[in-house]
Amino acid sequence: MGEILKVTNLSKSFPGVKALTSIDFDLRQGEIHGLMGENGAGKSTLIKVITGFYTKDSGDIVYDNEPIDFGSPNEAVRHGISTVYQEINLIPLLSVAENIFLGRQPMKTRGGGIDWKVLYKRAEEAIGQLDLDIDVTLPLNSYSVAIQQMVSIARALDISAKILILDEPTSSLDATEVRRSFGIMRRLKEQGISIIFITHFLDQVFEITDRITVLRNGRKVGVYETEFLTRIDLISSMLGKEFEELDSDRWRKEEGPLGEEYASLNRMSKRGYIEEFDLSIRKGEVLGLAGLLGSGRTEIAKLLYGIEKPDTGQIVIDGRKTVMTGPKRAIEKGIGFCPEDRKEVGIIPELSVRENIILALQAKRGVLRFLSRKSRNEIAQQFIESLNIVTTGVEQQVKNLSGGNQQKVILARWLAANPQLLILDEPTRGIDIGSKVEIQKLIIELAKKGIAILFISSELDEVVRCSTRIAVLRDRRIIKELGGADINEKTIMHTIAETG
Ligand SMILES: Nc1ncnc2c1ncn2[C@@H]1O[C@H](COP(=O)(O)OP(=O)(O)OP(=O)(O)O)[C@@H](O)[C@H]1O
Ligand SMILES: [Mg+2]
Repeated sequence: MGEILKVTNLSKSFPGVKALTSIDFDLRQGEIHGLMGENGAGKSTLIKVITGFYTKDSGDIVYDNEPIDFGSPNEAVRHGISTVYQEINLIPLLSVAENIFLGRQPMKTRGGGIDWKVLYKRAEEAIGQLDLDIDVTLPLNSYSVAIQQMVSIARALDISAKILILDEPTSSLDATEVRRSFGIMRRLKEQGISIIFITHFLDQVFEITDRITVLRNGRKVGVYETEFLTRIDLISSMLGKEFEELDSDRWRKEEGPLGEEYASLNRMSKRGYIEEFDLSIRKGEVLGLAGLLGSGRTEIAKLLYGIEKPDTGQIVIDGRKTVMTGPKRAIEKGIGFCPEDRKEVGIIPELSVRENIILALQAKRGVLRFLSRKSRNEIAQQFIESLNIVTTGVEQQVKNLSGGNQQKVILARWLAANPQLLILDEPTRGIDIGSKVEIQKLIIELAKKGIAILFISSELDEVVRCSTRIAVLRDRRIIKELGGADINEKTIMHTIAETG
């Protein structure tokens, strides 16, 4: 197999950071090539330099036997290199169809203007290629993050690509959707398209890739044939040290006495959103919510936090009936919510790491009780260390952090606010395996200090590892609560799959 892309000696710096140092990387025609490394290792930067989003400092890129130096991602696209970026960069209020053809809508031959009929028809075809059946005339934001990701893949595919680059495309997809996008990737591979695939999911990288290149601190550590690589070796190579693989056993076997009930949702329901349920959570408890994407996990979190209003039912917080009028009320009541769609509601890109971390704590104290600069710095610094945030310092703008490190900043924000009840919706998504473990340990530590935690995650192993009790959901209904010895992956999967 020939090489379609060859990168030699590539370097790229940002103020204060050497993001890439003398990287060599090659991509063969028709292969699926994994790019792995911890948060901040340089994966996205490598992609962005290849596609002309950033200009390189030095080095050579040869594509299809020609030296290239694209001036912009659009130029790369015109030459057949399409990218689905980690950040969804589509326009939420435009229709799915318009998003797929953004900037290259079919025009009417006579009279000008967009040819809507052709646009919708071609959009349906593009979506159909992904086995997806959605109304392409509806605004993009009427669909889940998962569907929005698929739309960006459809957009990339529509352009006749030789190389398709996927930067964490699967991080918000459920198992079925992952299967589906793997099907698409295999089909494209058969057509001779080369794919660069970035992910933090080890299972996925082992299942789909032919080779894996590992980066660490902006340097290439090695390139491996997937077939001959073990998980342990891959992890050690990413971390630069020996790593004991985690079992998916529970870490919190010693139950210890839990505290009193902190919150309960009684006979709560909302039509078309979630069926009537009862749920209570005690201090010191990690209540896991398990279920497939769209099963109603986030819906429960939003009702508890007051983002959505229920049709029936009531909430009791700390022994008092409470009407959750919205996030402000929830914060007053000691509730923190680290949401799933952090890109949309979380990060304030232009603000510093410090201000992003301090935000919720400051909001809780109120405008009249400003934290001193010194204590703001201290708090931010403390979380940079405990969560291992890769940054040049508290002053750095959050938009310049890598994807995974931005997520850690949001997590830090809610931890810093010292909540009594913390809702974590997919807190480790997009976070590398080393830090994932740190965050899981932190969750357990917080609970042991008496905080009540509602923990939502699609990764069953971490729900099992951290939870003291698990509510299993399916089709917007809580179908069962599991405790004790029933907290294991097998029982959860069986419960989700049980019929009736
Ligand atoms: N525009 C920028 N300005 C300044 N620094 C940047 C910029 N983009 C990236 N960096 C820095 O370059 C380094 C590599 O970041 P990159 O986004 O490539 O990491 P990554 O491997 O994709 O990580 P993740 O898994 O978290 O997405 C990080 O230290 C990051 O803070
Ligand atoms: Mg990245």
